Amino acid sequence: MLADRLKTLQPSPTLAMQAKAKAMRAQGIDVISFGAGEPDFDTPRHIKNAAMEAGQTKYTEVGGIPELRAAVRHKLKRDLGLEYTSDEVTVSCGAKHTLYNIVMSLVNPGDEVVIPSPFWVSYPEQVQLLGGVAVSVATSESTGFDLDPAAVRRAVTPRTKIVVLNSPGNPTGAVFSAAALKDVGELAVERGFWIVSDECYEALTYEGRHVSIASLSPEIKARTLVVNTCSKAYAMTGWRLGYAAGPKPIIKAMTDVQSQVTSNPTSIAQWAGIEALAGPQDEIAKMVGEFDRRRRFIVGALNAIPGVTSVMPKGAFYVFPNVSALFGKRWKGGILKGSSDVCAFLLDEARIATVAGIDFGSDAHIRLSYATGLETIKEGMSRMAAAVGRLEG
Ligand SMILES: Cc1ncc(COP(=O)(O)O)c(C=O)c1O
Repeated sequence: MLADRLKTLQPSPTLAMQAKAKAMRAQGIDVISFGAGEPDFDTPRHIKNAAMEAGQTKYTEVGGIPELRAAVRHKLKRDLGLEYTSDEVTVSCGAKHTLYNIVMSLVNPGDEVVIPSPFWVSYPEQVQLLGGVAVSVATSESTGFDLDPAAVRRAVTPRTKIVVLNSPGNPTGAVFSAAALKDVGELAVERGFWIVSDECYEALTYEGRHVSIASLSPEIKARTLVVNTCSKAYAMTGWRLGYAAGPKPIIKAMTDVQSQVTSNPTSIAQWAGIEALAGPQDEIAKMVGEFDRRRRFIVGALNAIPGVTSVMPKGAFYVFPNVSALFGKRWKGGILKGSSDVCAFLLDEARIATVAGIDFGSDAHIRLSYATGLETIKEGMSRMAAAVGRLEG
């Protein structure tokens, strides 16, 4: 019945885990969720007010109203020193949609898209859905999951159309070093592939400074699509507002695709987006300070659990601890053989929801989001430590 392209499609495991935790809570089970991919803060009031005050409720330009595209350009110049014209910017219904429009516009069946691993689950899925081939390239825990330019070079072939870079990254929290970004940027110029730089967690950089690969040289910028969103920095996940800046013909193609699929992003959200991107930015610093406190706590707590080790993530709001030392241990549900077993064990025995690393390309790890209150994190970590302490073998 269904189209062939659905044969490999996996529904988002992160959204599935959130739904599972929510359903358990609805049954009265006290589950602590470390599954969230969204800030637990509310959208700042001045942003919500801007949407209501504008009162714009009709169709708009497909790629976003001119005022919003101007706000995007202002933000990219202010934060990264990047200059774009308004026809080099397009706005979509969330960065996930922006990324899909890019794959639709650039990838022919059989084209290869290189994705550093561990990766955000939607990159390979979107590529495969459209007949492309996702090629994963390992990063190493010993470098904090930094981008490995030599591994990228080895993976690039004449069919490579895109290399996807995500820094700060989901699920590892890695912030790629400027040197590694430069190497891969120069490779893109040399070999003629496109770079998709997903910078959705830009604002949540705790160590060092966020570097956009597009800022490293004009030649690299000409081969790069910078992707970002209002979701994470402004706690606006539900508003669905993402954007891309890059070469005009690709931006035009993405906008044309969108014109036949969703038309414009929601008009009300666009007015909120202007205030978010161009208005006062001080709420971000408060949120970042709180995330940073939680980050330090959770990494310390994880590393104190025998059999669990975690590198210190430099950005985003995820930790990606290695739990492979628990493999082979027993609990009432059986023997732990991989990350999915560890997640099932933690949900059942500790009543904490986490996401299996295998979904992100590494079966040795699990992902925990610390976008939840510090007291909740403390309780979750003590439940995890107690449950792991009860494992046998
Ligand atoms: C790495 C990464 N890119 C893109 C997105 C999509 O964000 P949105 O569609 O809410 O803009 C997410 C959301 O979880 C993400 O983690």
